[in-house]
Amino acid sequence: MKRIILLGSTGSIGRNAVAVIKQLKDYRIVGIAAYANYRSLLQQIQDIKPEMVTLLNEKYCRMLKGKVRGVKITCAEEGITEMVESTNADIIICAFSSSISIDAILKAIKKKMRICLATKEILVSFGDIVMREVKKNNVLLIPIDSEHSAIYQCLEGKPREDILRIYLTASGGPFLDKNIKNVKKSDVLKHPVWKMGKKITIDSATMMNKGLEVIEAHHHFNLPTEKIKVVIHPQALCHSLVQFVDGTLLAQVSTPDMKLPIQYALTAPHRLPAPAKYLDIHRVKKLTFQPPNFKKFPCLRLAYEALAVGKSMPAVLNAANAEAVKFFLDDKLRFSDIPKVIQMVMKKHSARQGNVKFYLEAEEWAREEVRRFIC
Ligand SMILES: NC(=O)c1ccc[n+]([C@@H]2O[C@H](COP(=O)([O-])OP(=O)(O)OC[C@H]3O[C@@H](n4cnc5c(N)ncnc54)[C@H](OP(=O)(O)O)[C@@H]3O)[C@@H](O)[C@H]2O)c1
Repeated sequence: MKRIILLGSTGSIGRNAVAVIKQLKDYRIVGIAAYANYRSLLQQIQDIKPEMVTLLNEKYCRMLKGKVRGVKITCAEEGITEMVESTNADIIICAFSSSISIDAILKAIKKKMRICLATKEILVSFGDIVMREVKKNNVLLIPIDSEHSAIYQCLEGKPREDILRIYLTASGGPFLDKNIKNVKKSDVLKHPVWKMGKKITIDSATMMNKGLEVIEAHHHFNLPTEKIKVVIHPQALCHSLVQFVDGTLLAQVSTPDMKLPIQYALTAPHRLPAPAKYLDIHRVKKLTFQPPNFKKFPCLRLAYEALAVGKSMPAVLNAANAEAVKFFLDDKLRFSDIPKVIQMVMKKHSARQGNVKFYLEAEEWAREEVRRFIC
């Protein structure tokens, strides 16, 4: 029986992970964690019956404690680290919508757990540190992001020196063929293919999501910036491609359903029957690919620039973006101003190499700059 900790259990990825794990015979969730949604967490406690639960928000955590008996409940970030220390888990799924669990992930790596990573912000801000620890401790870090899962699957067993480039596919979001001046929040929150949390849905509309994925891919696959390309593929059936030095392209194609990469992250290199509909290849009318428009979507360009600078710049990009998205969701920032704010913060930052504490401080500085700029 594989014992699993699920961080971000109440979110879109978290709920899909619960559905996947329920139909796997030899896997069991022993710990769950969320941010503030104590009602959903309460339902999950009754449904999953975990050994340990963490709620990051202390006020809601106290309310949860008042309603539950017989389960260990811890509050705040230290609660997750304690969960990693004490549940004797084999696997950790990280699906928080921010890099808040970085300490717990580093601890899980030291404890040699399999790391199934959905939270791209972890590699964007702390990629060098995380991948160094992964290598040192000889653990598996398997992507859940569908594009990285696709690349991971295409690369299995292939020598790295045979890679010419990788192509991360992007559906193009809701504004692929539409004007992005004066868009409404409701339009931004309507993704044409994927049903996801709000933050990643906004990131998909600005294409910052793809930019963060470029940085994530750099760390996952140890590839230089020039070998990581983005290609627009509106049908969202091909989840990414690898081109090898002989010109061959390998692609991973399947129904767009996050249950597939979640299950693969848990069972790789083995495959089990799909927890989602099989793709009927005869119904696929066309697969199209086109280059991205960097002018229309400056966030993508900013992410490439942050990766080229490296050091603390990706952490600054990530935090400035997250804060700008919050202001947009609160109707205090226009959609078209999101990249302008991020660029302004990046221009003010002198990137430096550092440890986790330093990158966390860089993130906090970037958030503060965004607040000062907008308020
Ligand atoms: N959804 C997808 O299809 C998809 C695909 C690829 C990658 N990802 C990545 O997976 C991660 C989760 O995405 P999602 O769509 O599942 O997000 P989501 O639906 O918004 O869920 C986020 C989860 O994180 C918790 N959370 C909320 N605010 C937080 C904060 N400030 N810091 C840490 N955790 C917080 C939420 O807890 P509460 O419910 O208590 O608020 C919830 O459990 C993101 O990094 C995203 O980029 C998602």
